Amino acid sequence: MRQHTHVLFVSVLLGICGGSLDFKVVDLTHDHSNTTIYWPGSPEYNFTILSRGKTAGGIWLEMNYFGTAEHAGTHLDSPAHFYKDRNRTHNVPLENLIGPGVIINVKNKAAMNADYQVSIDDLKQWESMYNKIPENAIVIMNSGWHEHYPNASLVFNTDSLTDPSTFHFPGWHEDTIEWLISERSVNVVGVDTPSTDFGQTQNFAVHISLGKANISGAENVANLDAIPESGSMIFVAVTKIYDGSGGPARIFATIPLRVTSFGWTYGPSFVLFLSALCVLIPVIAHLRQRAR
Ligand SMILES: *[C@@H]1O[C@H](CO)[C@@H](O)[C@H](O)[C@H]1NC(C)=O
Ligand SMILES: *[C@@H]1O[C@H](CO)[C@@H](O)[C@H](O)[C@H]1NC(C)=O
Ligand SMILES: *[C@@H]1O[C@H](CO)[C@@H](O)[C@H](O)[C@H]1NC(C)=O
Ligand SMILES: *[C@@H]1O[C@H](CO)[C@@H](O)[C@H](O)[C@H]1NC(C)=O
Ligand SMILES: *[C@@H]1O[C@H](CO)[C@@H](O)[C@H](O)[C@H]1NC(C)=O
Repeated sequence: MRQHTHVLFVSVLLGICGGSLDFKVVDLTHDHSNTTIYWPGSPEYNFTILSRGKTAGGIWLEMNYFGTAEHAGTHLDSPAHFYKDRNRTHNVPLENLIGPGVIINVKNKAAMNADYQVSIDDLKQWESMYNKIPENAIVIMNSGWHEHYPNASLVFNTDSLTDPSTFHFPGWHEDTIEWLISERSVNVVGVDTPSTDFGQTQNFAVHISLGKANISGAENVANLDAIPESGSMIFVAVTKIYDGSGGPARIFATIPLRVTSFGWTYGPSFVLFLSALCVLIPVIAHLRQRAR
């Protein structure tokens, strides 16, 4: 009878624990198109249809040529972008482009001040809510600017798109970057604006500090309101351009969801708790049996 109870118990446990591990996937990338935002002076995007129709043999065939600057739309800045002898795009190890998402919400501050620069206090506020910034984090400013994309006048916040000295959009403060580099371990620092430095920068101090420290940047990140400020895993899948200084990237986040056989879904901490239970209960049951 006891034996039967054990079998029943383990079966129920397997039913709960044995469901498929599931992820919600969230795209953080703007379309790459002829509306893509380029820094002034970049050559134009070129999308040319080479074939879109039936071949002589009656087979449907679509293929295109496309040409783009590296630093366009949602993209990566390699460490080499603003620092000599740093890693270029093909050399940035893939594991340096993946990490726990840390989303720093400065939407209210940026709405009041377009020249806002993310402060050390903003990071400490995040940590007071969610704990210490995890190792190898991908830390991204959410200024709300992604909502302006792809309207260049609104994104650069200027009447003179060819003159960067007139740009007004938020970015990181160089002191905050120095703090992140010396006090925490980060893989990528990102923004939902066109530059990790704010629009009014004169010296690109943030780009230079990141490059020097071998840290990549991510710019024009989209859709940041669709992921939690903590708890996602972010992937910066940049095109592997040999000797590149950056490149267009498909940036996306996964948010863990455990789906049980019964169709329940639940978050990461409960998964951890349940996993511990799944290991511990059979062990305890086994030990008790041996003791008898
Ligand atoms: C941009 O692409 C769209 C869709 O392919 C096309 O209709 C439009 O004419 C293009 N605009 C420019 C300026 O090339
Ligand atoms: C775009 O690319 C096509 C295909 O290579 C080329 O024929 C065309 O001249 C290019 N257009 C521009 C504006 O560079
Ligand atoms: C730079 O590239 C080399 C070669 O891929 C790699 O071993 C090294 O880890 C890279 N460093 C960083 C910080 O990306
Ligand atoms: C960009 O936004 C401005 C200000 O709201 C507006 O006047 C302009 O028409 C927009 N441009 C495009 C291409 O939508
Ligand atoms: C960054 O990577 C390059 C290439 O691997 C290496 O020469 C340099 O020493 C690294 N710098 C730092 C600060 O890790």
